[in-house]
Amino acid sequence: MNTEAREALGRIRAEVGKAVVGQDAVVGGVLVALLCGGHVLLEGVPGVAKTLLIRALSTALDMDTKRVQFTPDLMPGDVTGSLIYDAHTGAFNFRAGPVFTNLLLADEINRTPPKTQAALLEAMEERQVTVDGTARQLPVPFLVAATQNPIEYEGTYPLPEAQLDRFLLKLSVPLPQRDEELGILRAHHQGFDPRDLKAAGVTPVAGPADLIAGRQAVQHVDVADAVLAYIVDLCRATRVAPALELGASPRGATALLAVAKATAWLSGREYVLPDDVKAWTVPTLRHRVRLRADAELDGATVEGILASVLATVPAPR
Ligand SMILES: Nc1ncnc2c1ncn2[C@@H]1O[C@H](COP(=O)(O)OP(=O)(O)O)[C@@H](O)[C@H]1O
Ligand SMILES: [Mg+2]
Repeated sequence: MNTEAREALGRIRAEVGKAVVGQDAVVGGVLVALLCGGHVLLEGVPGVAKTLLIRALSTALDMDTKRVQFTPDLMPGDVTGSLIYDAHTGAFNFRAGPVFTNLLLADEINRTPPKTQAALLEAMEERQVTVDGTARQLPVPFLVAATQNPIEYEGTYPLPEAQLDRFLLKLSVPLPQRDEELGILRAHHQGFDPRDLKAAGVTPVAGPADLIAGRQAVQHVDVADAVLAYIVDLCRATRVAPALELGASPRGATALLAVAKATAWLSGREYVLPDDVKAWTVPTLRHRVRLRADAELDGATVEGILASVLATVPAPR
């Protein structure tokens, strides 16, 4: 069970909360992804503290973080690093790119051409970067939190489903409630400076070792056959839903299993409940399915379709 690691990770939310008002679900989602060794897509308008949240989380977890703005002229080497010629020695030395970090905030990945996207996605999948035939390992843990522009935005390169599937979760970062926004303003009025997390009192309360211990403990979480079957049935139901032209893949099913196990462990349980699965079905599957165009015109949403799948597939008792 490893109670010590779980308690350390349990302190993260409160620590991030010293800087970020609300957004608990996002913090929880990134923690789950870190425990699963996965990556996340963050969806939200500018100015809802996506950057602040990632920075506060990496401080609380005693990890390194970097941010890359994906622009149309960004080259693969700007992400991964490249060989730099040293005139003194006549040798080429590797200068590590920003991908060599624990928590990489990849802002607006759909503004950059496919070649640069591919370099990032390859690093995400292989956890290493190969430049000039030499493979260099990325740090552990390594998580990419990527933000995307709305698809309508002109001049963007939307990620194809095959690549979206590589993200464990798609988390929505909503606008704050009225009282939360008041809290944000009060904090700023009293001198909160988002660039100075130390002054806000955010300190390391857990570390990479807790995550690594947690990952091991998560593997030992029990899953009843009926819960495995529930996950399979949910995914199969997305494949026959009339409003969807693409359903969840087996990779989506394995993602839901991993996420449910991490959630169970974080809540101090040694077994997965159907509720762990239910709670994470939308964030785990929403970016892995595609609405039919006519259903979309009729006002259907992926979230709505997944909600009705959850309402119709019977959960084990
Ligand atoms: N939930 C929140 N808690 C605290 N500050 C917030 C919150 N939402 C917005 N802010 C304020 O607005 C800024 C949002 O900036 P940023 O984190 O860069 O947003 P994003 O990356 O989503 O565009 C923060 O630095 C902070 O000053
Ligand atoms: Mg930002």
